[in-house]
Amino acid sequence: MAILSPSILAADVLALGNDIKVATDAGAKWLHVDVMDGSFVPNLSFGYSVVDALRKITDAILDVHLMIDKPIRYVDNFCSAGADYLTVHVESDTKENIEETLDKINAHGVKAGISVKPKTTAEEIKPYIQKCSIILVMTVEPGFGGQSFMADMMPKLKEIRNLINDINPDCRLEVDGGIDLVTAKTVKENGADTLVAGSAFYKAVDKRAFVEEIEK
Ligand code: DX5
Ligand code: ZN
Repeated sequence: MAILSPSILAADVLALGNDIKVATDAGAKWLHVDVMDGSFVPNLSFGYSVVDALRKITDAILDVHLMIDKPIRYVDNFCSAGADYLTVHVESDTKENIEETLDKINAHGVKAGISVKPKTTAEEIKPYIQKCSIILVMTVEPGFGGQSFMADMMPKLKEIRNLINDINPDCRLEVDGGIDLVTAKTVKENGADTLVAGSAFYKAVDKRAFVEEIEK
């Protein structure tokens, strides 16, 4: 079954508590939290204090996407704050440090994830799949919500689905960027089981129907 992970990047920051409730009341079981450092990506967003605050008001699965350089520096903070999944970019540090980062996340009992930017190949994440509970394939350049879906990522998505099936079939396969009810169908056909949606979810008039359509 597919899972929707609504991205709070598209929520109203001044009404974050309410917008979280809107998502969970609509049936969302996950929440996607985008963390940006203005260096790995040209934008700034939330820090671990937001994860800590969210943890206090919701039992939803907190799916934290770190778009930051050398994420190992903040693993303890995000794990202690209450992340359920903590995903780092394969491009954000050296191979040795990425291995160590995943080990550190797993040692906290938090589910570790690896994310790939559009130009990064499936082959580059292959060595890490065994240590991961989730692989996140970007279907836009990371940094901003509201961008257009890159359909040309579908062969890579399919390739990663096959690698997961061979190496670690329990690992989830997530997509992020430009997901709406139309592109959701495409990514599911290509092997995704976890779908992030920011703009399309928060713009949807009938959010319960949106969750049901994604998760059917
Ligand atoms: C982009 C973020 C996404 C973003 C998706 O860098 O990782 O999670 O919130 O937004 P939409 O669904 O609007 O493309
Ligand atoms: Zn994201």
